[in-house]
Order: sequence, then structure tokens, then C-alpha cells
Amino acid sequence: MLRHCVYPGSFDPVTIGHVDIIHRLSRLFDRITVLVAHSSQKNYLFSAEERRDLVLSCMKGLKNVSVEIHEGLTVEFAQKTQAQVVIRGLRAVSDFEYEQAMANVNAQLAPGVETLIVFTRPEYGHISSRLVKEVAQFGGDLKDLVPTDVAQALRAKFA
Ligand code: COA
Repeated sequence: MLRHCVYPGSFDPVTIGHVDIIHRLSRLFDRITVLVAHSSQKNYLFSAEERRDLVLSCMKGLKNVSVEIHEGLTVEFAQKTQAQVVIRGLRAVSDFEYEQAMANVNAQLAPGVETLIVFTRPEYGHISSRLVKEVAQFGGDLKDLVPTDVAQALRAKFA
């Protein structure tokens, strides 16, 4: 059986923490779809197409990873593409309740799709897209927070 997982997120923008998870997934699954999804809770700095292209720019050399934009429910995408698993990253206890609620609703909507949690590496546990945008806005050093292409795109947004 082909092991296919979907890794959804806002990726506004993708950070080195996300990139690390994608690399780790690429060794565990046959196929990984990074899903640039839409959260009704967020106003995005980058368009869906820009977010997709920035994720793509960090995935060079990973043959089993593709990146898609999806406006609807993540589990619907998983069912449509025969993905058995939805992956979410967990950075700290503060992420837990939100992730648990989302996993439970997703399980109710699509019992055949499992949610698996991957722990973010401790060295990336403090990074979030919101903080990265704040650092960029005030001209701070982005080197240890985001890949080079993303740093460039952020600097262009706030120029
Ligand atoms: N390293 C660094 N940062 C990380 C990280 C990691 N490994 N994993 C998560 N984060 C950060 C992100 O940067 C983001 O930071 P921010 O809040 O400052 O922007 C935060 O953790 C959470 O982001 P993300 O993982 O992208 O989740 P999200 O809450 O923005 O997005 C969706 C959630 C889009 C995946 C979810 O709403 C979804 O699936 N939407 C489609 C509709 C749907 O199915 N809804 C669910 C119904 S139950």
C-alpha cells in the first residue's frame, strides 16, 4: 500500500520548523502532499499562490513531496487523494487543545483518515509564522527562522 500523508497548514510563511517536519516526513511516507490550506481565523500576508511557491522553493531535491492549494476541508482533500493520514506538528503544550479539537472533528467527518502528531524539534519550538513576520516588519535578522527565499520574500513585502 502506498503510504500517503497530507501535511496541512497556513504556511504564512513556511518556516525552518515546517521544513524540518517535511524532510522528516519524506523519509517516513511514500508520498507527502503539503497542503496550503485556509484557516478562517487568519488574515494572510501572502496569497495562497505565494505561500505555495515559497513552500515549493524549500522542497528542491525531495522527489516524493508535492505542494497543493486547497480552499475546502483538509479531510475532504485527504479522502479525494487517498491519503490515509493527516499530519500536524506540535510545538508545545499550548498547541495541544487546538490540535486535539481539530483531530476529533476531522475524525468525525472522515473516520478513515487518521491524524498523526509529529513533535517539532526543540530548537524550532519557539518559531511561529506570526513572530517571523514581526521580526521581518522591524528589519530583524531572519537567518535562523526561515529559509533564504522566504527571508527575501518577507523583506520584499515589508520594503
Ligand atoms: N515549526 C514552526 N512553526 C510551526 C510549526 C513548526 N514545525 N508547526 C506549526 N507552526 C506554527 C505556524 O507557523 C503557525 O504560526 P502562526 O499561528 O503564528 O501563523 C502556527 O504554528 C499554526 O499554524 P499551522 O500549522 O499552519 O496551522 P493553522 O492553524 O494556521 O492552520 C489549517 C490550520 C489551515 C491546517 C486548518 O485550519 C485547516 O485544515 N483548514 C482547512 C479547513 C479545515 O479542514 N478546517 C478544520 C476543521 S476541524
